[in-house]
Amino acid sequence: MTYKLAVLPGDGIGPEIVAEAIKVLDVLRDEFGLALEMETAAIGGAGYEAAGVPLPDETLALAQAADAVLLGAVGGPQYESLPRDLRPERGLLGIRSALGLFSNLRPALLYPQLASASTLKAEVVAGLDIMIVRELTGGIYFGQPRGIRKRPDGQREGFNTLVYSEPEIERIARSAFATAMKRARRLCSVDKANVLEVSELWREVVERVSADYPEVELSHMYVDNAAMQLVRDPKQFDVMVTTNLFGDILSDAAAMLTGSIGMLPSASLDANGKGMYEPIHGSAPDISGSGKANPLATILSVAMMLRYSFDLEALAQRVENAVGKVLDKGLRTQDIFTEGCELVGTVAMGDAVVHAIQEMRE
Ligand code: IPM
Ligand code: MG
Repeated sequence: MTYKLAVLPGDGIGPEIVAEAIKVLDVLRDEFGLALEMETAAIGGAGYEAAGVPLPDETLALAQAADAVLLGAVGGPQYESLPRDLRPERGLLGIRSALGLFSNLRPALLYPQLASASTLKAEVVAGLDIMIVRELTGGIYFGQPRGIRKRPDGQREGFNTLVYSEPEIERIARSAFATAMKRARRLCSVDKANVLEVSELWREVVERVSADYPEVELSHMYVDNAAMQLVRDPKQFDVMVTTNLFGDILSDAAAMLTGSIGMLPSASLDANGKGMYEPIHGSAPDISGSGKANPLATILSVAMMLRYSFDLEALAQRVENAVGKVLDKGLRTQDIFTEGCELVGTVAMGDAVVHAIQEMRE
């Protein structure tokens, strides 16, 4: 079987980092037997330039027909004044929703070579390995009604709706428990059950699902405390599961524990394991075109794709080990640079990973 991959580079540094990930896929295809076809399409600001909308029909059709999607990043200052529906972020939210990618896996893994790049003390973060499971197609991001309206007194008010149905909570909970089963079997569900009714139901459903996973130790934490615990003692966590908005916020905090947001991949999965893979960082317009962007998060997203969508664990590990080798050699892009290391750009970093993949051939 030949896998079909939809490649959506997007905006800013997106095309530069995706080009390095494609080099990795090319070598896996040409030298390690990965049966893969790739096709590229425009999304975000690039979609707007090409077709007048951030998620062109052809792009969505290509993604729907593919076995997996590799995405770079979307957004840029030149699009910020567009009407809300035409902004790049809408393309991202639209494709997540249209593909039913409700389960977003965001690992925060600290490479031991980068312990000194974290802003936290090395002993607080050394060995850190957290997986955040973020609900991605519901909650306040998508709840209706939403908008900005005029009140009878003439003042305007903005409003959004935070809503989760039992089936929505149940499926993300199952996804998180299944993830925990493959790891250290500890799951912390994060909510705001002391204030929100939605969270009360969330907690109840997560508790109910836990009966099917007796080996997983379940705990609950309020989101404000979880934010504090993440920076106080992050190693207490194995898997965290939470809503769309809380997950958005906590995953940025968790990412920074590892020293650079430029290192972290993500997978967004549907009910059948089809997925979209993207670095968790954004389009970084400030460094776009300068050749400084770190391609490792995108390359590590490829590893997640090999693991979760193609079930090719050995190839996934090969890619992850190659990244480790390159860090061992002391190569660093500017975002993870520390004294005594060798500063390299986007392309050199991609080349180094490709070489490491080839060198590991037995
Ligand atoms: C993320 C991003 C997106 C989100 C934005 C760009 C819409 O912050 O993937 O975390 O809020 O989900
Ligand atoms: Mg975010």
